[in-house]
Amino acid sequence: MTEKKVLLTGDRPTGKLHIGHYVGSLKNRVDMQNSGQYDPYIMVADKQAFTDNARNPEKIQNSLLEVVLDYLAVGIDPAKTTIFVQSAVPELSELTEYFLNLVSVARVQRNPTVKAEIQQKGFGESIPTGFFIYPVSQAADIALFKGQVVPVGDDQKPMLEQTRELVRTFNRYYNTDILVEPEGIFPPEGQGRIPGLDGNAKMSKSLGNAIYLSDDEDTLWAKVKSMYTDPTHIRLADPGHVEGNMVFTYLDIFDEDKAYVADLKAQYEAGGLGDMKIKKYLFEVLNQELAPIRERRAQFAADKSAVLDIVKTGSEKARIVGQQTMAEVRHAMGVDYWG
Ligand code: TRP
Repeated sequence: MTEKKVLLTGDRPTGKLHIGHYVGSLKNRVDMQNSGQYDPYIMVADKQAFTDNARNPEKIQNSLLEVVLDYLAVGIDPAKTTIFVQSAVPELSELTEYFLNLVSVARVQRNPTVKAEIQQKGFGESIPTGFFIYPVSQAADIALFKGQVVPVGDDQKPMLEQTRELVRTFNRYYNTDILVEPEGIFPPEGQGRIPGLDGNAKMSKSLGNAIYLSDDEDTLWAKVKSMYTDPTHIRLADPGHVEGNMVFTYLDIFDEDKAYVADLKAQYEAGGLGDMKIKKYLFEVLNQELAPIRERRAQFAADKSAVLDIVKTGSEKARIVGQQTMAEVRHAMGVDYWG
């Protein structure tokens, strides 16, 4: 039997997860977990959340449980996947500190994702130092667990590159091979990104255009009803546009019955098919996928202390792995003065 590869990924706990997360990564994580080919770790990156939410500890604390509930609801199985909390593994900070010496300020500054986030968040001249260096701490997240496979969104490509560089530099400087260069797994071309209900390219909490895994049926229907369709499709008989119409964009992503969707598109373009009708259909399709997730979520949510226990057990296990790697790191660097 071949050795299972260590899979590591994570999310910042800054809110509940939505169907964008589901399509872009959660679904894939569950498949990878169930393939039996990996030893998966999923980290709730609370320390990273503090890098841009230092004034919002309640948000991070509340989101931690929500994010773990979302994981469990979609089928992340704690018997197969180690779910842990970043702050419960202080060795991550120790490795980060050593990694910081292996990369220049100029190199950290070149990260396009961080640059874009700095713009978005409007930090101006007041970029928190922790935020600025979070790609280095993310490299430590991956390296401490000797992560080999890191399934993440496209925006995380620069982080993977940075991690590979840091691992190579560490191994070279300290003449060792203990750290492992990870491989990023990215969503297939054109997939893994779902626009918002309003047609905005990004589904996000701050834009208020997201469908959450925890939304109940009424909320789901209200959101589907509000979706951006085709402003030129005024009377029922008018020919409608499918391109840029969120209902069809979502049907393309969620409906397995491609032939039926093609048929609906043709009818819509010809005229005579109303928005309400296609929205009702999309609601059915989405609800079929989300209802079992919602149900499982409610079951887990009924016993919050059991959920916290899952994360505690996972964090204890992760800590042991972290301590082992850190002992090897100290040895390689010669900072194990007392053996
Ligand atoms: N930066 C990731 C995000 O956008 C979260 C994260 C932190 C992560 N550490 C990681 C992802 C390590 C993969 C591997 O939410």
